[in-house]
Amino acid sequence: MDFKVRAATKEDCKEISRMILELAVYENMPDQVKISHEELEQDGFCQNPFFECLVAEVPEEHKSKEGFTIVGYALYFYTYSTWKGRSVYLEDLYVMPEFRGRGIGKGLLSKVAEVGKKKQCVRLQLSVLDWNAPTRDFYAAKGAQDLTASEGWHFIRFDGQNLDNLANEAPKD
Ligand SMILES: CC(C)(COP(=O)(O)OP(=O)(O)OC[C@H]1O[C@@H](n2cnc3c(N)ncnc32)[C@H](O)[C@@H]1OP(=O)(O)O)[C@@H](O)C(=O)NCCC(=O)NCCS
Repeated sequence: MDFKVRAATKEDCKEISRMILELAVYENMPDQVKISHEELEQDGFCQNPFFECLVAEVPEEHKSKEGFTIVGYALYFYTYSTWKGRSVYLEDLYVMPEFRGRGIGKGLLSKVAEVGKKKQCVRLQLSVLDWNAPTRDFYAAKGAQDLTASEGWHFIRFDGQNLDNLANEAPKD
């Protein structure tokens, strides 16, 4: 099937927001989504954007059952490894179920790799849920290493009250 991968624009944020929720439903955590399309517009399309995003688009004649032509996205940002240098972190990769298995996920993933390489990134990293075997297999088939298995890393987060507590304990300037 014909599809195009292109950089997202501010006008795509409603569609990206819809697919963020679809991905969260797939991951069994829809209640965790607190981001609105307005926040995406603000955070991704300001002077110093917090993320970049690619969308996959199909021609009108191949639109989804509900009439969508934007059928997948990859949202990523830049990080830094003190061992290896510039890196790109893939936060979300998603293709709508009726469009899977046609090369769109691979197209999005490869494009993120290409964009990262152009910025001299030496790593593309991401996290995936333990039970999501099809997607883990998809990444493995593309050559990704599973660092939890090979190096034993844990994925750590501070948020909510714990983040507030930590920030409140910061030494005064
Ligand atoms: C993972 C996902 C993005 C893949 O997108 P897709 O469009 O279905 O994948 P593609 O059609 O591009 O597959 C490309 C290649 O991967 C292979 N592949 C796809 N699924 C695979 C799997 N489960 N195991 C092994 N290989 C797989 C295909 O055979 C194809 O191989 P080829 O390049 O040799 O032909 C999509 O399935 C998805 O959105 N899944 C649900 C959401 C999700 O888990 N997102 C990631 C969160 S971290």
